Amino acid sequence: ADADPLQDFCVADRNATISVNGFPCKPISQVTSEDFFFSGLMKEGNTSNVFGSTVTLGNVLEFPGVNTLGISMNRVDFAPGGINPPHSHPRATESGVVIQGKLLVGFVTTNNVYYSKVLSAGQMFVIPRGLVHFQRNVGEGKAFTLAAFNSHLPGAVVVPTTLFASTPSIPNEVLTQTFQVKDEVINSIKSKFGA
Ligand code: GLV
Ligand code: MN
Repeated sequence: ADADPLQDFCVADRNATISVNGFPCKPISQVTSEDFFFSGLMKEGNTSNVFGSTVTLGNVLEFPGVNTLGISMNRVDFAPGGINPPHSHPRATESGVVIQGKLLVGFVTTNNVYYSKVLSAGQMFVIPRGLVHFQRNVGEGKAFTLAAFNSHLPGAVVVPTTLFASTPSIPNEVLTQTFQVKDEVINSIKSKFGA
C-alpha cells in the first residue's frame, strides 16, 4: 500500500537528520551488496513472555534496503500454545506461510465476520489491509511463520496493548464503559501488561 518508487532503489540513510515520508536515500557511492540482503529473520525469537510468541521485524527500520519499495517481512515464533494477539496493520495487507507447526489463523472483517483456518507447514494465509487478526499455535510443539507485507513499514496496532498498556493509560471509565465490566476487571487486565 506504499507509494510507487520513483527510482530503482533508495537505501534508507538511517543517520539522516532530515525527516520525510519514508527515509532519505543513502548516497549511491556508499551503496553495497550488503544493503540488499538481511539475515535478521534467521534466528528463532525468544517466546518467554505473556503471549508465548515473538515477532521479529524485517521492515525498513531493520532492513534499510526495502526503503520506498513497498514490501517487508516478519518472522513470528510461537511456544506451544503461544498467541500473536489480535492486531492490525494500518498500512499493509499481510500474506504469510507457516514454516513449522500448526497455527490457527483468523481475522475479522469491518462487518464483524470472523474467518479462520488451522494451517500446517507450507500453507499460506492472507490478511486484508487494516483488519484485526491473530495467529495461535494449536500444535504440539513450537511453530513459526514468515509474513510478507505490501509496505516497507506496515505498522502494528496491537489491540490488548493499545487499549490496556498505552502511555499515558486510557482512563478506566472509558474501558469499563466500553467493555461493560467493573473497574477491577480493567485493573486486572492492565496489571498483566505492567501498566
Ligand atoms: C503477523 O501477523 C505479523 O504481523 O507478523
Ligand atoms: Mn499481522
